[in-house]
Amino acid sequence: MINEIEGAAALAARFPTGFTWGAATSSYQVEGATGADGRGRSIWDSFVNEPGRVVDGSNGDTAIDSYRNIAGDVATIKSLGLNSYRFSLSWPRICPDGDGRVNPAGLRYYSDLVDALLAEGITPWITLYHWDLPQALEDQGGWPVRETALRFADFALIAHTALGDRVKHWITVNEPWCAAFLGYASGEHAPGRREPSESIAAAHHLMLAHGLAARAIKAADPEATVSIGINFYPIHAASDAPGDLDAARRVDGVQNRWFTDAALRGAYPEDVVEDFKAITDFDFIRDGDLETIHAPVDVLSVNYYSRFTVTGNGGSTSASAAPTGAGSAWPANEHIGFVPAGLPVTDMGWEIEPAGLTEVLTRLHRTYPEVGLAVTENGAAFPDKLDEGRVRDPERLDYVQQHLGACADAIDAGVPLVGYFAWSLADNFEWAWGYTKRFGLVYVDFETGERTVKDSGRWYGDLVRRARSNR
Ligand code: NOJ
Repeated sequence: MINEIEGAAALAARFPTGFTWGAATSSYQVEGATGADGRGRSIWDSFVNEPGRVVDGSNGDTAIDSYRNIAGDVATIKSLGLNSYRFSLSWPRICPDGDGRVNPAGLRYYSDLVDALLAEGITPWITLYHWDLPQALEDQGGWPVRETALRFADFALIAHTALGDRVKHWITVNEPWCAAFLGYASGEHAPGRREPSESIAAAHHLMLAHGLAARAIKAADPEATVSIGINFYPIHAASDAPGDLDAARRVDGVQNRWFTDAALRGAYPEDVVEDFKAITDFDFIRDGDLETIHAPVDVLSVNYYSRFTVTGNGGSTSASAAPTGAGSAWPANEHIGFVPAGLPVTDMGWEIEPAGLTEVLTRLHRTYPEVGLAVTENGAAFPDKLDEGRVRDPERLDYVQQHLGACADAIDAGVPLVGYFAWSLADNFEWAWGYTKRFGLVYVDFETGERTVKDSGRWYGDLVRRARSNR
């Protein structure tokens, strides 16, 4: 039963043999060392320097220093008993100018990380794009420009050529909705542009980038598992009023179906195309693009945090709880509003709704039965305190436990769920929220870099050990 706290033993027994148990991070959020060893600049390096973009005025220059701490990070993952680790490659660390010039030191870092993980029996899951576009490519127009997708395909092949002998799990693009619409419509994220019609071109080119990269990886290694990471939300209408129902359709369209239908059906949803016609003529879509985007996907990566309740009456702010005044992240839908459903919230203000995860997974399986599913992010921010060497975080522990119950419910309902990754392995740089929001299973002292496994991390590690030794 969802929403009922289950004992770890009973919960562990609900997961199949061979299940992937992991935690996730991304390059800009954890690596630091932004000026080291020939790394180029990314759009986040630029964005954080613009006053008012990040609430605490911080940046990822040091982050949690993962670039210089492979051994420590791998030891932490091992201490939690995880069998997998999801991390992303910094594109400008590998291709400093976003073109074909490769920085060998950048590749060496990831190669060393992969070797260190494998030596401990931890399977790497690599995300190729987790939002740190080379600044050089933004200077040439960024994601609204087609060339960026072509450069990404080159980068994907460079990365796969260097690491594909050891890495079998590849996620092309993480949350293209965020990259396109927070980056180019609302301006909450780098590069901070508020150009709604350009943001739709950005979304298209991110999907084209996915298709090109997925095809290149599959051609190089047919055994590789190829995936795309989608932040798929349950969208509920605030009432049965026609305006609210239409708002729910529109948000579901822009947030969810736009991306999954393109990747898994090879077509953008017609209703969303109609809505978008108000602000774009789609001249950036070329013949054959949707076929390219409709590349073989083995596993759909689902990032789940919360549920949205929407109204057509508008006026309310962004559901992504932008820390700074922002434009709409649902272009052509500025009249739509988000209303609280009265559920408890995390430190992000995001409503906690574990049943929404079961809802998303079962819906995705019903709609796209041919693809496997993985939860590649799930977690919660809470204002943790280190107290005499211990971090008591019962809310996060409950959050993870209840969402794992929701995963087990989905498995019971026949969903082919292959894995679960907690977000995040450790506290890190939470984008426009800087270091003010802690998502980690591991607490990080941002002054010293010292790590302390939180109670939630201990609990998760215990659960994973039980699940892995069940049989
Ligand atoms: C989604 C993103 O992929 C990740 O980078 C971010 O930190 C979490 N959600 C939490 O907001």
